Amino acid sequence: MSLIGLSHKDLLSIDQLNVDEINLILDTADSLKEISKREIKKVPTLRGKTIVNFFYEPSTRTKTSFEIAAKRLSADTVSLSASTSSMVKGETLIDTAKNLQAMNPDLIVIRHSSSGAPHLLARHVEAGVINAGDGINEHPTQALLDMLTIREKKGEIAGLRVAIIGDIAHSRVARSNVIGLRKMGAHVTVCGPPTMMPMGVGELGVDVQYDIRRAVEDKDVIMVLRIQLERQAGSLFPGVREYSRFFGLNRAVLSRAKPDAIVMHPGPMNRGVEIEPEVADGPWSVILEQVANGVAVRMAVLYLLMGGSKSDDMD
Ligand code: CP
Repeated sequence: MSLIGLSHKDLLSIDQLNVDEINLILDTADSLKEISKREIKKVPTLRGKTIVNFFYEPSTRTKTSFEIAAKRLSADTVSLSASTSSMVKGETLIDTAKNLQAMNPDLIVIRHSSSGAPHLLARHVEAGVINAGDGINEHPTQALLDMLTIREKKGEIAGLRVAIIGDIAHSRVARSNVIGLRKMGAHVTVCGPPTMMPMGVGELGVDVQYDIRRAVEDKDVIMVLRIQLERQAGSLFPGVREYSRFFGLNRAVLSRAKPDAIVMHPGPMNRGVEIEPEVADGPWSVILEQVANGVAVRMAVLYLLMGGSKSDDMD
C-alpha cells in the first residue's frame, strides 16, 4: 500500500479538505474503531505527544471524545476551560497562544465562541490546531463524524438526498455539513424559518424549503439541528411551541421520508422542541452512533495530523 497522509498542519475547516482527504479520514476512522472495542483500549501510536484541549464554550461530546481519542492513542492531554485559563484575567487569545506554544505542545484543540479564533491561533503557534467549533463558522470534526455515520448506514454518500432542518444561519454544524456533504456528492436541502436562513442561501448549492413536510419528502437522511434556546428564544421565532409545531420533527413528518431514512442530531437535543422523543429514540435514530463515531474520527484526525498514514500498523 502506498503512503497516504494529510499534508496540513491544522484542521480548521471542511473547506480545506478535498474528497481524497475526507475519504482518508473516514477510512482511517473506520479502521481505528476496532481499538475502542478491545479489552485494553490503547495503542502507543502517539506516545510522547502532548495535546492541549482548550474549550472556551461548554461541550460534552466534542471535549470528551477528543480526550478519549488522545488517550486511546497514548498521547498526554491537558485541558483548559474559559473559567480556568488566565483569559478571565484579561489575557488575549494571541498572548495565550504564545504562552501555550512556549510549552511546546504538538496539537491544540480549540472551541471558541468567536468565528475565526482557531485560524488566529494557528497563525501564532507552531503546534497543529484543530477547530472544535468556532462561533457560527465551522465544526469540521462534527461533519466528519456525521459523514462516517452516513457512510456506514448507507454505503456511500454520493447521490444521497439529505435534509438539514433548523437554524441554518447560525449553525456551524450545518455549515460544515453543507460543505462536506456537497463535496462528497450528496444532494442537500436546508429547511427552517426565514429568519434562520443565511443571506445568499441560494448560492450554497442547496435546495431551500420553508415547509418541513416538503423538506423531508423522499430523503435518505434527516439531520435535525439544535435550537439555541439560550440565544434565540423570542428573537428569531415567536416561541418554542410555534417552532415545534412548524419545524419540529415528529413521526408524522418523518413518514414522508424514505422508509429506511436515518435521523441524526449533533446534540445536545431539546426534546419536544426540534425533535420529538419518539423520533429521537426510535429505530431510525443514529444519534448515539454519531457520538461513538466521534471518538473514531477524532482519533483519525489526531493521528493523521501527527504524520500518520494509511499504511501504518496499529498494534
Ligand atoms: N455536537 C457537539 O458539538 O456537542 P457538544 O457541544 O456537547 O460538544
